[in-house]
Amino acid sequence: MTRDEENSLITELLGLDARNEKFLDEKVTHSPVMRYNCSDRFAQEMTALFRSKPVAAAQSAELSEANAFLSRSVSGLPVLLTRDAKGKAHVFLNVCRHRGAKLVREETGCKQRFSCPYHAWTWSNQGDLVAVPQEQQGFPDLDRSQYGLKELPVLEAHGFIWVIADPNATNVEEIQQSLAPLSDDLSWLELADHRIAAEETFEISANWKTLIEGGIEAYHFRVAHRKTIGPYFPENLSSYQMLGGNMRSVLPRITLFELRDKPQEEWRLREHANIIYSVLPGTQLLVQQDHVVWVHCEPLAVNRTRVRLATLVPNSMPQTDEMQKHWVRNQAITSTTLTEDFELGEEIQQGFASGANTHLTFGRFEGALDRFNQVLEEAMKVTEEA
Ligand code: FES
Ligand SMILES: [Fe+2]
Repeated sequence: MTRDEENSLITELLGLDARNEKFLDEKVTHSPVMRYNCSDRFAQEMTALFRSKPVAAAQSAELSEANAFLSRSVSGLPVLLTRDAKGKAHVFLNVCRHRGAKLVREETGCKQRFSCPYHAWTWSNQGDLVAVPQEQQGFPDLDRSQYGLKELPVLEAHGFIWVIADPNATNVEEIQQSLAPLSDDLSWLELADHRIAAEETFEISANWKTLIEGGIEAYHFRVAHRKTIGPYFPENLSSYQMLGGNMRSVLPRITLFELRDKPQEEWRLREHANIIYSVLPGTQLLVQQDHVVWVHCEPLAVNRTRVRLATLVPNSMPQTDEMQKHWVRNQAITSTTLTEDFELGEEIQQGFASGANTHLTFGRFEGALDRFNQVLEEAMKVTEEA
């Protein structure tokens, strides 16, 4: 983000506050409840969004050493992430090519070769099949080149290992194109120079979109978060901008108003606002003063979502016990606040079945929610047509 952009975002919010206005979309909109509770719709979203669009599978520092590996689930697929001896990151399906066993059971470690726990077929960390016990008798004509691990398109950029979770996808450029409009902002955050200082994973009985929607409006802050962060934020003030198919939301804290008395050269948005990047579909980056929270949403079912919260901190900050306590405290504040949203999300999900609403209603200052849904609709249409 350039200094000019920072200043104009701040000026816009100060102006809205001075005029006692909100950042308004044109009209009130509605979102059909079936978007959040229909299993067919969920299956379409998994195919057209979570397995077609870039997902941040790991933060680069989680896989920093040569020959490091991680196994985890991405968009419902079991994957194995490796970094080969040359430093290149790979993401494979964590599935044996012989008879389908889960190749790697450990969550993390350092290995050059992976041997299947069933019959010990073995692959290199570049995905090549390198050993087959009793091959000559059992598989006399085996063409090993046809039995490499299934690899997903990967791009390592801005401190994350991005993948398209579709074994038939080949186009790495698609990841680049999706991220390009965010590139200036992500460079500004210098996330390639960050590491995870604290993290937690939650499983929530709510649709994934309800959880994202809860993070991109400030209308609820003073009400739902009155006991936690609410008092630090003005009444219902926020703005949003689209960066390609991704969204940047700016949720100012009340300290923003102090900038009125200061020269523009001293204005720093990050010191006075939460900035949230929603990299659609499931990655959100919540930018705070001295750290960034990576919120990773992985839908498990139409009414169930796994959320991983990771506090990303700059490598330049001292790695002392004192600082670590500070990061753990911050992680606790984030998770306490988001737990308030998660509880609401679970209650909303329960309410869907009651039939009270056929549609949800988004006010003009909740325009980001409609825009978010429109972007998803567009992406799903495009994938269906392709
Ligand atoms: S299933 Fe993996 S070696 Fe047989
Ligand atoms: Fe919230």
